[in-house]
Amino acid sequence: MGIKKVGVLTGGGDAPGLNAAIKGVVWMASESGVEVTGILDGWQGLLDGFCDETLKLDYAAVRTWDRDGGTNIGSSRTNPFSLKEGGKSVDRSAEVVRNIRKLGLDALVAMGGEDTIGVAAKLSGLGVPVVGVPKTIDKDLAGTDYTLGFDTALRNALEIIEKSAVPASSHHWIQVVEVMGRHAGHLAFWSGVAAGAHIILIPEVPFDFDRIKKLLEKPMARTERFRQGYALIVASEGAAPKGGDMYTADGAKDSFGHVKLGGIGAALSKWIASNTKWDSRSVALGHPQRGGQPSPIDRAMGLAMGTAAMNCILKGRTGLMISAKGIVPTPSLGTVPLKDVGGKVVNLDVAKYYDEERYNLKPQVLS
Ligand code: F6P
Repeated sequence: MGIKKVGVLTGGGDAPGLNAAIKGVVWMASESGVEVTGILDGWQGLLDGFCDETLKLDYAAVRTWDRDGGTNIGSSRTNPFSLKEGGKSVDRSAEVVRNIRKLGLDALVAMGGEDTIGVAAKLSGLGVPVVGVPKTIDKDLAGTDYTLGFDTALRNALEIIEKSAVPASSHHWIQVVEVMGRHAGHLAFWSGVAAGAHIILIPEVPFDFDRIKKLLEKPMARTERFRQGYALIVASEGAAPKGGDMYTADGAKDSFGHVKLGGIGAALSKWIASNTKWDSRSVALGHPQRGGQPSPIDRAMGLAMGTAAMNCILKGRTGLMISAKGIVPTPSLGTVPLKDVGGKVVNLDVAKYYDEERYNLKPQVLS
């Protein structure tokens, strides 16, 4: 079957690098005379009442998109297989399949994380030709070593962690910085390591309050110049105390059943101020971590993955997600079946990188 028209959508939390990936898709499509339609706001854009508004994407339109953060076609956390309507869960996937046909799409490129790729896998099972592109600042997706957005989020997090260390050192307090990442510690861990944080808390390893107190003694000790030192703690939003639960902003769940995490930074800071002799402040980095212009790696990887996705479609290869194996920006790009990606969170390799006593980078010893 000749490919004439392809749809592209971005789902879940936005991430820098998505626009470069869209440009990659459009670039390859335009060279093969294929039309590209931007579906607005993720899977929502394929539901009745939304699919009448789409965006025609030609190369002239997307030429400079690789420089833009976020996603220029919008995103949402919409699960068409389980939409919350009137307190009930409704399956509107048949509508999505029908609208893909109505729009005349021969194939779809779905860019997203576990949830978006999970929906893509189910649609693929229903016969929709779809290719996934991995994206999430959490870098917790199975089947790939890189997900678009991680590198930029790391840069964004590091920038603020470093800035917040300045007042902490002037005032000799303990600065707690809460970093996103949901149930995986990649973003918190590597930004904390890069910032030289004294303590890094990750969801993979429950922490002990008294151990933190002990670990703070060294950076808070008197120095030659100051009566007191300062300390920097980077806490992943999903970090939890031993025997306790993750901190949640409120009980609300999105349509994929995820509860919003948040609050560990403030809670830990409060605990430190009440249970030690030191002062403490906290900041939660929140959504600005996902903002700003994409890093060189996210631009380059976005373009590369976008071209790979479109070329798979042109060869009739669907039901797959583009995967990057190896270190960016020179990984080997390949594919993994969509059905092998969903439902698994890839966590930080604790045995390799995390010192469970020091709550920090494990010193690397080569054999
Ligand atoms: O998955 C990306 C992410 O930024 C997580 O790190 C965070 O827990 C979540 O999205 C926040 O969700 P929302 O964008 O819906 O506030």
